[in-house]
Amino acid sequence: MSHASPPRPLSVAAAGPLRGTLTVPGDKSISHRSLMFAGLAVGESRIRGLLEGEDVLATAAAMRAMGAQVVREADGTWRVHGVGVGGLLQPQVALEMGNSGTSTRLLMGLIASHAITATFVGDASLSKRPMARVTGPLSLMGATFTTSPGNRLPLTMRGLTPAVPIEYALPVASAQVKSAILLAGLNTPGITRVIEPVPTRDHSERMLRGFGARVDVEETPHGRVISIHGEAELSPQDIDVPGDPSSAGFWMVAASIVPGSDVTIRNVLMNPTRTGLVTALRLMGASIEEVGRRDVGGEAVADLRVRHAPLTAIEVPADLAPSMIDEYPVLFVAAAFARGTTVARGAHELRVKESDRIAAMAAALALAGVRTTEHEDGLSIDGRDGDPLAGTGTARVASLLDHRIAMSMAVAGMHARDAVTIDDAAPIATSYPAFLDTARSLGAQPQWIAA
Ligand code: S3P
Repeated sequence: MSHASPPRPLSVAAAGPLRGTLTVPGDKSISHRSLMFAGLAVGESRIRGLLEGEDVLATAAAMRAMGAQVVREADGTWRVHGVGVGGLLQPQVALEMGNSGTSTRLLMGLIASHAITATFVGDASLSKRPMARVTGPLSLMGATFTTSPGNRLPLTMRGLTPAVPIEYALPVASAQVKSAILLAGLNTPGITRVIEPVPTRDHSERMLRGFGARVDVEETPHGRVISIHGEAELSPQDIDVPGDPSSAGFWMVAASIVPGSDVTIRNVLMNPTRTGLVTALRLMGASIEEVGRRDVGGEAVADLRVRHAPLTAIEVPADLAPSMIDEYPVLFVAAAFARGTTVARGAHELRVKESDRIAAMAAALALAGVRTTEHEDGLSIDGRDGDPLAGTGTARVASLLDHRIAMSMAVAGMHARDAVTIDDAAPIATSYPAFLDTARSLGAQPQWIAA
């Protein structure tokens, strides 16, 4: 986690069509929230299908450090005994967040309305990410912060009980910021309100309601107004975490670009605040068929059959950005195989993810033989009309401690003349530990190589 693990270079060369059926791990956003909300409920919740990646394990450890009992059963079910809203205990150690922005920002929200002090530390990537977007509104609620320069980690915060309810219009479209404020509102008297000008993923709203909190959502001319009624009581739940559409995105693109591919991805979350990549790929001509749409625990899920198809460049609609914010790196890979130049703008937030994903993908694609033009808020990619990429030869793509850069470029290698080599694929374990096993099960041949 924050102690740097040794880099693990990975090489991926073309190995023919991808075929087969796979399941993706549980959704990362829902997994974090399941542990946090169960940790605040009174009684025992059970969670099946939890993503057991490093980011979610950081959340589990933090909830334990603050008094929740969090146990993994041998069959993979997680049992959580919560402390009750307002019952979080003072952690005796610094909260080790590793690479996980979601753990950090949502937990800061939880702690803001508890009279406890907590220190957050993270890896080199997380320590560069902006925290003012959460320390700002949480300070208005009464929490106090001592941060590293630039409002960054490591930081120490002290929450306040009772905290002060606020009404806050989000200056950036961010589900993490929205959620941090709503979670602080859980233990705050009165009504805490967040106004989001553009809809972002709504898992916190849906799940908090499921746990018994009163959350009202109103569509207004200024955006969605989300109100949480404070001093809530949460009751334990049984949760089935649906498959992560962000993880599924790698296979959607891989099957679309590798000739002859035919892949079925089972049990993918189809919440409309998360399906922007499916929309964008379909606009490009991808063949993505939904089979057996159904409801699991209040969320739409479906199996997706994806077959190779020639792709055409598009201007990526900027209003899709919030619903595919984590999928741009792999969309850029799809664009590299399309006919024409794809233009993606209006995605400035990509600059402050686990890496600067605009600069990181421009550099990675250039190394693999793709021409791109960087914009302040996006990237234009000259597609190769189905031709394989050149590959990187002996040069290595820099993954910059960013799991999605590593996995996106691994996908690029699946249709390249020479291999694509990535300097460090260890970060894949933050969100998708089984990624390489699944790649092999579909016929790809990723290889670990010497550092
Ligand atoms: C997430 C929100 C998004 C996303 C992240 C998960 C969440 O971040 O990039 O991977 O679970 O709320 P922002 O809210 O910063 O856009």
